[in-house]
Amino acid sequence: MRQVTSSAGSSAPWWRDAVIYQVYVRSFADANGDGVGDLPGIRSRLPYLRDLGIDAVWLNPFYPSPQADAGYDVMDHRDVDPTFGTLTDVDELIRDAHALGLRVIVDLVPNHTSSEHPWFRAALAAAPGSRERTRYLFRDGRGPGGDEPPNDWRSNFGGLAWTRVTEPDGTPGQWYLHLFTPEQPDLDWTNHEVRAEFETILRFWLDRGVDGFRIDVAHGLAKDPEMPDLAGGYATSGPAVEGHPHWDLDEVHDVYRAWRRVTDSYPGDRMFVAEVWVQSPQRLALYLRPDELHTAFNFNLLLAPWDAKALRSAIDESIHELAAVGAPATWVLSNHDVIRHVTRYGGGDLGTRRARAAALLMLALPGGAYVYQGEELGLSEVTDLPDEVRQDPAFFRTGGAELGRDGCRVPLPWSGQEPPFGFGPSGASWLPQPPTWAELTVDRQASDPGSMLALYRNALRLRRELPALGDGQLTWIEVGEDMLAFRREPGFVCMTNVGDEPADLPREVLSGSAVVLLTSGPTNPEGRLPGANAVWYAMG
Ligand code: NOJ
Repeated sequence: MRQVTSSAGSSAPWWRDAVIYQVYVRSFADANGDGVGDLPGIRSRLPYLRDLGIDAVWLNPFYPSPQADAGYDVMDHRDVDPTFGTLTDVDELIRDAHALGLRVIVDLVPNHTSSEHPWFRAALAAAPGSRERTRYLFRDGRGPGGDEPPNDWRSNFGGLAWTRVTEPDGTPGQWYLHLFTPEQPDLDWTNHEVRAEFETILRFWLDRGVDGFRIDVAHGLAKDPEMPDLAGGYATSGPAVEGHPHWDLDEVHDVYRAWRRVTDSYPGDRMFVAEVWVQSPQRLALYLRPDELHTAFNFNLLLAPWDAKALRSAIDESIHELAAVGAPATWVLSNHDVIRHVTRYGGGDLGTRRARAAALLMLALPGGAYVYQGEELGLSEVTDLPDEVRQDPAFFRTGGAELGRDGCRVPLPWSGQEPPFGFGPSGASWLPQPPTWAELTVDRQASDPGSMLALYRNALRLRRELPALGDGQLTWIEVGEDMLAFRREPGFVCMTNVGDEPADLPREVLSGSAVVLLTSGPTNPEGRLPGANAVWYAMG
């Protein structure tokens, strides 16, 4: 496996500049023909991922689960849901991935469990104040008879964040907190049993050979013990702001310091990547102090509109704040929770041109990058799914006001002319694919040098070959206001025209002996770079 050399010249761990491919397990490849992707399906497609040129895969949750939130409602953290396979399948997947030089990251969901988890079932069967209840956040209700919820906190998916239980004797009882669906009760992270249990879970997967963990809702574990009302002062969703009573409290950092001691006790460069939605890069950096987590998703690029100023300040701020704690930046354009970026950038031909340019921009930036499955095929959001096939709880809990995230989770098109486009051996796919995806299958794009897939493959190959790319620094070149141009040493320049009109190239590119390495558009630009285009140069 590749060891990289940082700009300081020392050997740096792989995760400082890895390109990590997100496999949304239920939508990647279906081996058994039930219409849902599975671990053997992923295993059969590992050569595709090796050829794409990525370094690691992150697998979304595959644990036993009633699937109230697509597997983020975990019943047993040490097993595999039969829909996705078995523990043996995980072992074989890890073994095959390693043999191909790919690392494997699994998803850890510590903020909540499934309401079907044995701990929660035990809590419901036990009395208020019992040890079983202290693993979760049970509280008495307010008002006469405790009929009102303990406070005004809202679920991230709409509706109240509290559900009232019926006590074992049949009377209306306490309420429990769930920042997501009622089927995802929040754990109480002040409870030592909860802390010990998750350290055991970490060891279970580390012993099986995983290279890292993606931490779900990493900024949510600690809650203000007073549980004050939000009183309109804070939003439930969106990046957390300081002072929020249930997001990004300082107490979460104790948990990560303990986890770091666990991964550090294992050989190899095992790592964490945290999902932390906070408003300021300064708050993000706190999670990445040397004795805490290795990396975190940096959502600044994903949240920025297609606008040169906004993109540049997202890039600058991220690099600056993360460097202060010695952490590498990571870059993300899409994932399973947001609208696919071809669509965010305007959709159709324009959205695709911008997405191609964004890919070259992202892969040239210092640090690591995440590729969400299907972005390498240029897939757009599927916006016209019929209501009856939708599965995202966000759709149901908002009465359809929010379409939810199903549109970015549609199974991948691999081959053929008709759905399910080689997704599995039967005609089924758990969400229907648009017939137009016949043009976007892996098979079709693999033989087209102008395809999005070819662009990703070329960019990822160059990224491995060029010492300037990956970890390190960038220096901006000042050009026109729509142009994002930067230099990386030795001898590399990336230029992205974020505007719609052709823009002048800087003199140092035109007058030097610059060689075009890769362009996102169909032609070699001469003197001017067309709108929504990016280009990589080797400088003489
Ligand atoms: C973040 C995950 O990415 C999302 O898919 C999930 O619904 C929530 N956390 C709750 O676990």
